Amino acid sequence: MTDLSALESELTAKIAAADAAALEALRIDALGKTGEISNLLKSLGAMSPDERREQGPKINGLRDIVATAIAARKAELDAAALDARLAAERVDLTLPAPPRRKGSVHPIMQVMDEMIAIFAEMGFAVAEGPDIEDDFHNFTGLNFPPKHPARETHDTFFLQEDERGERKVLRTHTSPIQIRVMQRANTAVEAPQFAHGQEPPIRIIGPGRTYRKDSDRTHTPMFHQMEGLVIDRAITLGHLKWTLDAFIRRFFETDQVVTRFRPHFFPFTEPSAEMDVQCDRSAGMVKIGEGSDWLEILGGGMVHPNILRTVGLDPDEWQGFAFGLGVDRLAVLKYGMPDLRDMFSADVRWLEHYGFSAFAHPNPATGLS
Ligand code: PHE
Repeated sequence: MTDLSALESELTAKIAAADAAALEALRIDALGKTGEISNLLKSLGAMSPDERREQGPKINGLRDIVATAIAARKAELDAAALDARLAAERVDLTLPAPPRRKGSVHPIMQVMDEMIAIFAEMGFAVAEGPDIEDDFHNFTGLNFPPKHPARETHDTFFLQEDERGERKVLRTHTSPIQIRVMQRANTAVEAPQFAHGQEPPIRIIGPGRTYRKDSDRTHTPMFHQMEGLVIDRAITLGHLKWTLDAFIRRFFETDQVVTRFRPHFFPFTEPSAEMDVQCDRSAGMVKIGEGSDWLEILGGGMVHPNILRTVGLDPDEWQGFAFGLGVDRLAVLKYGMPDLRDMFSADVRWLEHYGFSAFAHPNPATGLS
């Protein structure tokens, strides 16, 4: 016959000294299905009624004592573990915060947003196209005849020939977006974000990156343009001039900006013009409305009838104007960076100086955030 009081003192001593793992092992050995105390309880069934009356309460009592001791020890260990964790994970709020660099919005993106906001208020929608274009959208569809010298003026970056012998280009301007928007059969198969063809009337702007082999103080091989296209009935050059004047005044937040139109040639507009903004760049800074320097900021004109025919619109019914604004040039003029190339030199100090806060920053051109 098992000595119950010896077993009790042995188990309670072991429980009091056990760590979490040992405690669980003790519980299984004593109270588990085939544990020592469970076996004792099972043995009650084989006893005579007298024996059972005597042993029953003792064995059950032992089971209760051991179970209570295990629960108490477990609570003790849990509390100790929690205390240890609280001590280890304590945060010292008096320590200085680690330095953290705040990101900022690149001036180009800021200016793009300002421009989009102004044109959106005039009722223009945003349309986009791919940076890697085919010859048709970048040149031929825009009335650049094959081998024509006008193609040369674009200093194009060509990609390697593909399987079909076609050489794609890094688009030299955002004007391919015009074709994409006017081609009503275009369902933008390359990617859903690109412009789908629309029925006129059309009033879109097409912001994006453009590429030419060119690098000096006012040119970088990658730059940004924003195309504008309006197609409707009875649109004239007067609408183009008014739209650009209204935009410029709004963008520079002043009526004092001096601009000039110079007659120019583009294969896809007739008549065509370039627009310059008067500025002073003598003191290593760019100031608008002063001085005797001119910075070309856009090309524009009336959409050439050949373009309308190419996309299946009747030039006797529909006319329109188009323009391509130099986004980087506008940023330079508005925020006074002396050299365009710094914009893309990926210098964090430059960005910290010229960058804009990403949060709750009201758009300076519109007052909207
Ligand atoms: N795509 C022309 C350029 O990059 C600008 C332009 C756009 C001219 C639209 C006329 C109409 O120089």
